Amino acid sequence: MNYRTMGKLGIRASAFGLGCMRFNGAASGDSVIDEEKAVSLIRRAIDGGVNYLDTAYVYLDKTSETVVGKALRDGYREKVTIATKMPMEYVHNREEMEALLESELKKLQTDHIDFYLMHGINREKWEYFKSIGAPEFFEDMKKAGKIRYKCFSFHGPYEEFAYILNDWDWDMVQIQFNFMDVNNQAGLKGLKLAGEKGIPVVIMEGLLGGRLAKAPSNVQALYDAFPEKRSPVEWAFRWLCNHPEVSVVLSGCNEAEQIDDNLRIFSTAAPGIMSPEELALMDSVREAYLSRTKIGCTGCRYCMPCPNGVDIPGLFSAWNNVSLYETNPATDWNLRGIRENGRGADRCVGCGACEAACPQHLPIIESLQRAWKELGIN
Ligand SMILES: NC(=O)c1ccc[n+]([C@@H]2O[C@H](COP(=O)([O-])OP(=O)(O)OC[C@H]3O[C@@H](n4cnc5c(N)ncnc54)[C@H](OP(=O)(O)O)[C@@H]3O)[C@@H](O)[C@H]2O)c1
Repeated sequence: MNYRTMGKLGIRASAFGLGCMRFNGAASGDSVIDEEKAVSLIRRAIDGGVNYLDTAYVYLDKTSETVVGKALRDGYREKVTIATKMPMEYVHNREEMEALLESELKKLQTDHIDFYLMHGINREKWEYFKSIGAPEFFEDMKKAGKIRYKCFSFHGPYEEFAYILNDWDWDMVQIQFNFMDVNNQAGLKGLKLAGEKGIPVVIMEGLLGGRLAKAPSNVQALYDAFPEKRSPVEWAFRWLCNHPEVSVVLSGCNEAEQIDDNLRIFSTAAPGIMSPEELALMDSVREAYLSRTKIGCTGCRYCMPCPNGVDIPGLFSAWNNVSLYETNPATDWNLRGIRENGRGADRCVGCGACEAACPQHLPIIESLQRAWKELGIN
């Protein structure tokens, strides 16, 4: 495992950080967690050198922190740093922030959280957090030793990212970044800005929630034509590790093989590792993906549950997959399940709860109808 210095904090963190949001196939619509398996995956990653775990109050129907707490018994807590988050939706005043943090400490079975993040903020949410006194609360909790670092995770445009970053003395920031998102969200500009300020950057959605792990035929043709042979996952992670401003790359893993694969990849990938030819390859790969992608849904499930029962991430995943991998919608098992369980776009009433929650700011309502039509279900 390669370890990287976290900017001004000076801490050595494993380049691969385990994301605890997707255990047991949550990315593909199943949010019921197999606790025993999740504990074993977490411990496998730690045994392999991972010392950074990322969870959140809301992940996996609020069960992620509990399972992380169980995994960190038997001496594992001392081997890792934990990042978890405060969601805006659950706090309106100091008392609620205190109660929420206490419940997180209890679930995680620890007396302190290393990296405490305001969860998924943009400018509007940051203003809200300020209005309820969250910065003062974070400072006080830091002094009290209940959290070590005050941080935020971000979803929004670069301008808002720059504003938030410059507006307070942050210890760390978590952004969505991968070779497809160079000019999207905080993007490369945001990464560089944080780097200039010495603020460590943790990366989420490095594989776009798994979408970059399986290359469609036009992308695979580009990889095959390149002299160096690597898996799509390795190309994506090497591209990230090539950036010196990146401290930790989070990846959610559902299988022991994925953990082992990532442990191997992150023990070789380092800043400056990509040649000009390899960087040019990744530019071509980006164009090839864009030419076939229907919608930039990463399957994070922030939009769920839909009050009317639409399986939004499942439907968008099917829509992208049919286009990317040139498959027949009639034989798509995911789509069949959506149809059989009555969870299709025909149930959408346009209430917009999903669009308000989507960190990618996708036009979900309109896209659901397009997907439904293009997949030939109307
Ligand atoms: N704060 C926020 O707003 C926010 C938002 C999103 C994510 N996050 C955090 O960031 C973490 C990472 O994000 P992410 O889960 O989206 O990461 P990701 O690395 O983009 O996607 C994870 C998915 O990639 C696939 N994968 C991972 N390693 C693989 C390998 N070696 N070979 C093949 N496939 C592999 C798996 O897909 P399959 O399941 O299909 O096998 C896995 O579920 C999350 O767990 C969460 O903790 C935070």
